[in-house]
Amino acid sequence: MPHLPRVGLLARRIMNETRIVLRNVGKINPRSIDDYVGFGGYSILKKAIEMGPDAIIDIIKRSGLRGRGGAGFPTGLKWEFTKNAASDVKYIVCNADEGEPGTNKDRIIVENDPNSVFEGMAIAGVAVGAEMGYIYLRVEYPGADLILRAALAEARAAGYLGQNIMNTGVNFDIEVVLGAGAYVCGEETALLNSMEGKRGEPRFKPPFPGVSGYHGKPTVINNGETFANITYIIDYGPEDFARIGTESSPGTKLFTLCGNVERRGVYEFPMGITLRELIYDVGGGIPRGRQLKAVQTGGSSGTFVTPDKLDMHMDMNLAAAHGATMGSGAVLVIDDRHSIPELALNITEFFVGESCGKCTPCREGAMRLYQLIQKFMSGEASLADIDTVKELSTTMGLASLCGLGQTVSTAILTTIDSFRDEYLAHTYSGSRDGRRTTTNA
Ligand SMILES: Cc1cc2nc3c(=O)[nH]c(=O)nc-3n(C[C@H](O)[C@H](O)[C@H](O)COP(=O)(O)O)c2cc1C
Ligand code: SF4
Repeated sequence: MPHLPRVGLLARRIMNETRIVLRNVGKINPRSIDDYVGFGGYSILKKAIEMGPDAIIDIIKRSGLRGRGGAGFPTGLKWEFTKNAASDVKYIVCNADEGEPGTNKDRIIVENDPNSVFEGMAIAGVAVGAEMGYIYLRVEYPGADLILRAALAEARAAGYLGQNIMNTGVNFDIEVVLGAGAYVCGEETALLNSMEGKRGEPRFKPPFPGVSGYHGKPTVINNGETFANITYIIDYGPEDFARIGTESSPGTKLFTLCGNVERRGVYEFPMGITLRELIYDVGGGIPRGRQLKAVQTGGSSGTFVTPDKLDMHMDMNLAAAHGATMGSGAVLVIDDRHSIPELALNITEFFVGESCGKCTPCREGAMRLYQLIQKFMSGEASLADIDTVKELSTTMGLASLCGLGQTVSTAILTTIDSFRDEYLAHTYSGSRDGRRTTTNA
């Protein structure tokens, strides 16, 4: 029996949303530190410094906060590993690479409320004993870059970052590092290599970054949305936060609603909201009277979900119970004009371009998969090719080194499982004209 979402009493409701991460958005000028401080900014950092590392980590653990970058690892536990790692130098890294197609939430956060991310990172620094943090920012976000750098300079000048912040004896500073423009550089170890000026290729794990990260030093890497949750949790307490969302995934989630839906955008709702609510109540349904055909959840590396699963609750565990992923919260709505094998081809082409080439299953497999799906699009595939696509996807999932190669299969396998008929129709035995049966009219 799923644990249904409950909305915390203290969460600030704006229209239909439950805003924790976006609670300052639209209320403060992101270029004004005075605005942020006027809304209580940096008082939570001061409180956290007084509490000390153990109490901070205890609160974050009790809140149940899980990382918002896709994998959902418990944040408090991650911080504890780094706190306990013996080293005189440690680092905090905010992952704002946001390369997942269809995801646009970290940009909204850093452009509209940069100080909430800085404050969350500084609290993490206090918790683990780090004095330096970096924001790895997607290079295609020049506007966010300008805002972040200006806001950092202002926070530093006002004594909220840098040496002896707020006269507490604590040092913590932040720099922006521009990403390398590759999807794989969002993977935490490829990100570290990129930051160090090396090729953006994933490293073997273990060791994990929490123990051996940036320049071999213990490093906490969290998503921008994860950091933006921290001040709320310390301010209102872990119990309030845990009352929002679901038992396995407390809190809210930023969903990027895109594709064939009336009201595309980034929305914040308690974890556990259903796909139906997101698409119809929030998004206003499918435009121009078309029918819903599928939803891809979790970005290009995510799963294809059929309309009969619209009542699926979007959280990290409940979605998985339906064989689906929530990932970083992308919800791509697909109407009945689209051919699923054609979308699968598009996704595979993306992965061919983004594979870093370090390991054979992904480097060779992605290209082979692309060629196979192309065979369907040109009506030259046979029934046996469906099995080959399935077998190759499974092998890539099992044998690829990092999440990129592993999740090519996630997307493709779900298209075959749920839309096998469409693949069949694209075989030379299933299609009369040897071409696709759906149109893009
Ligand atoms: C190919 C690939 C791309 C990724 N891209 C991102 C990204 O853009 N942003 C992000 O936060 N995490 C991304 N991740 C997940 C990170 O490796 C890591 O799990 C995350 O930054 C940890 O933060 P969290 O615990 O707050 O979620 C990616 C993972 C893979 C495999
Ligand atoms: S799975 Fe792909 S992206 Fe990841 S290391 Fe291997 S080749 Fe590179």
